Amino acid sequence: MDQKENWIKVAGNIDEISFADNNIATIHIEEKTICLARTGDSLKACSAKCPHAGGDLSEAFLDKKENIVCPVHGYRFSINSGRDTNGEGYFLKIYKIKETEEGIFIKLE
Ligand code: FES
Repeated sequence: MDQKENWIKVAGNIDEISFADNNIATIHIEEKTICLARTGDSLKACSAKCPHAGGDLSEAFLDKKENIVCPVHGYRFSINSGRDTNGEGYFLKIYKIKETEEGIFIKLE
């Protein structure tokens, strides 16, 4: 792991992550709360805090278009770009994630 780039190991592999029924797992790293979202075979990571009004995205659901849908007001954010699908200019913080033989890592800024 390259410390300079601040990649943080979050699990040895995807089977070590306990996802809720909504395919979202919540982890805490360096005072941040981050959602890991399982979409098909891939794994995405985003802030657990909705950029609209702070809703808890660990309680969200994932739609078929890889959007995470906030449980509070129903805004949808692309789990890939973070953009809200209404085009209102809200951006959900997305974290880069990589899976290697050594495990699953998230890049903190
Ligand atoms: S708090 Fe998430 S949509 Fe309003």
